[in-house]
Amino acid sequence: MSDDHYKKLAVLGHPIKQSKSPIIHKHWIEKYGVKGDYAAIDIPPAALEHEFGELIAAGYNGFNVTAPHKQDIMQYCDARDRDAYEIGAVNTLYFKGDKLWGSNTDSYGFIENLENSVKNFDWTKGPAVILGAGGAARAIAYALKQKSVPIVRICNRTIANASDIVADMGGYVMPWDQKEEALLDANLLINTTSLGMTGKAPLEINLDNLPQTATVYDIVYAPLITPLLEQAQARGNQTVTGIGMLLYQAQKAFEIWYGIKPDVDDDLIEKVLK
Ligand SMILES: NC(=O)c1ccc[n+]([C@@H]2O[C@H](COP(=O)([O-])OP(=O)(O)OC[C@H]3O[C@@H](n4cnc5c(N)ncnc54)[C@H](OP(=O)(O)O)[C@@H]3O)[C@@H](O)[C@H]2O)c1
Repeated sequence: MSDDHYKKLAVLGHPIKQSKSPIIHKHWIEKYGVKGDYAAIDIPPAALEHEFGELIAAGYNGFNVTAPHKQDIMQYCDARDRDAYEIGAVNTLYFKGDKLWGSNTDSYGFIENLENSVKNFDWTKGPAVILGAGGAARAIAYALKQKSVPIVRICNRTIANASDIVADMGGYVMPWDQKEEALLDANLLINTTSLGMTGKAPLEINLDNLPQTATVYDIVYAPLITPLLEQAQARGNQTVTGIGMLLYQAQKAFEIWYGIKPDVDDDLIEKVLK
């Protein structure tokens, strides 16, 4: 007999073994006593159509989607909510009746993490500088637009990628070698490149131009305190780590599936950072 409350969930990506999503969602499934399971499934890009079709046929009720499928998965959605539509990528799928909907909870995760880390953060106080123009930067540029940040500067190695985001979200493109100039009156500096991540080159940036009142947010969370955050802390800037963005994007996905807004508690943070 099928159980209508049981949810078969999974995160899809390639590679996938690094994903923390199973730890997060299994923690909440257990904590809130809801029924379900959450798997991590590796799907190479060429196999997406076939394997996704098999998962739907197998009765899965919802998915998270990570790199490199966040855009390609959209073609299998019957509909997308406003956030997914505006961002142009999907990271959460769920059923409404028999229709498969795509959502994107990354911008929510980005905002919640900052607002929970820096009390009374004033988004409108000054410009924001985004370093990088990949998938995460696109969701963040959308979040900054929602929060009415007055000026957004996107500095990226490949100008065309920054231009694409600016065309959709507004803001200004700045060349990678002018990132220090972009900092002059900034209220918020966000690293969305993979630089500074364990195993990658460090992010080399001189922060002398950055006002001491600015907040520095690195979405890279391995290591938790990146060299950028160390540098910012040493000169007295407030800092925000990337782990919360991951946890809060998951919070909204769980709420979409189960109708329960789960807590981002210390036990969970400890489990995810292990
Ligand atoms: N905390 C969270 O919840 C969260 C969520 C999503 C992503 N992330 C992290 O954010 C990072 C970016 O993710 P993503 O999905 O946006 O990746 P992505 O789409 O591959 O974008 C990577 C970005 O990094 C830039 N970059 C890479 N190597 C560089 C180098 N040597 N010099 C200068 N720029 C370089 C790329 O520039 P080009 O455009 O020139 O290639 C691009 O802007 C990853 O470390 C990921 O783990 C964290």
